Amino acid sequence: MKRSIRDLVDLKGKRVLLRTDFNVPMDKVGRILDQTRITAEIPTIRYLVNQGAKVIICTHLGRPNGYEISLSLWPISLILMKYFPGKVQFSQKTVGDKVKQQIESLPDGSIILLENVRFHKEEMEDDPVFAKELASLADIYVNDAFGCCHRKHASTYGVARLLPNAIGFLVEKELNAIQDAMDHPKRPFVAIFGGFKVEDKIKVLKNMIDIADTILIGGAMAYPFLVAQWIPVGLSPSRPECVAIAEQILKDAQAKGKKIILPVDHVAYRSDDKKHKPFVTDTLQSNMIACDIGPKTIALFEKEIRGAKQVLWNGPLGKYEDKEFKNGTMKIAEIVASSKCYSIVGGGDSVSAVNKSGKANMISHLSTGGGATMKLFEGNSLPCIEVIQEKII
Ligand code: 3PG
Repeated sequence: MKRSIRDLVDLKGKRVLLRTDFNVPMDKVGRILDQTRITAEIPTIRYLVNQGAKVIICTHLGRPNGYEISLSLWPISLILMKYFPGKVQFSQKTVGDKVKQQIESLPDGSIILLENVRFHKEEMEDDPVFAKELASLADIYVNDAFGCCHRKHASTYGVARLLPNAIGFLVEKELNAIQDAMDHPKRPFVAIFGGFKVEDKIKVLKNMIDIADTILIGGAMAYPFLVAQWIPVGLSPSRPECVAIAEQILKDAQAKGKKIILPVDHVAYRSDDKKHKPFVTDTLQSNMIACDIGPKTIALFEKEIRGAKQVLWNGPLGKYEDKEFKNGTMKIAEIVASSKCYSIVGGGDSVSAVNKSGKANMISHLSTGGGATMKLFEGNSLPCIEVIQEKII
């Protein structure tokens, strides 16, 4: 078991470098569209503040190429100020003497948010000199950036090797919930997959066949599977490079007695229709592009979800960002939230759909992880967790 912040003693006056994942969706003018990842971090920050630590928060936002004002963390510091009035400072630098001075004069039980760590290209290279600079800011390192635990970067991995360390409450909660759902699933266990990153998720599906009882596939994930069964998908993205893998997964599932359920109808538009007028169809003709699951598919998926004891959902079931094609994802969000099963929802769009349905509080575990959750679903461990010290019992 990994050492948690609860196991750290005498934090008063200690400089704690807290790596968080505040990689939140933002619009072009810097408005934060979903605060889940920030609010999920508040218990850990509050604990460290209450213990009298100097809390040095380090996070990335987006994938900048050098300094980009639109990816500055200044707007995030304003949100933190609402939770911790009078206790939050913002540092325009991530490392260096000026930051050290600011930390030096930071009162105990206060917070300083460092500027976007990815403004330094050394971060993603896990550069040892940069990791050392980060380490020189603090006495202790706490990793609570669950969404980044699959990334061996300087602030998530390199620095952890240089300081006494522990995991935060969020990482602890995520690991417990996901690991438990994978190792001791309540049955029937229904997994729902959608989204665009088909190549990545196909690895997850391979592992899921062994764990889940039924797998529901929608969104862009579904087309290679339909093609593998010789079902026409019109002009929808069929990802030819994924069809052979999809065929193998279908065969494996059949051999292992697992159900894979694919869409039986779609919300589509015709390629020659400039207005992209949506319509429902069972059959995708050669000039049609499918962008959402149709009502018969929603009913089929609902039946499985209502009969499940555990549901895991990752990825939207259609082109969720367009209002004409968000119905399937929103309906599944409502169904998962209102079902009585143990539910885990992960991935930015699925979490945002659940938040918009107003029923997020009915989900058993709303995960902040995207790629990190996927790694666990694939059956892999996370390097940034591995590097944390074991708890001394
Ligand atoms: C995420 O959003 O999945 C994490 O913050 C990691 O971001 P990245 O994929 O840009 O490394």
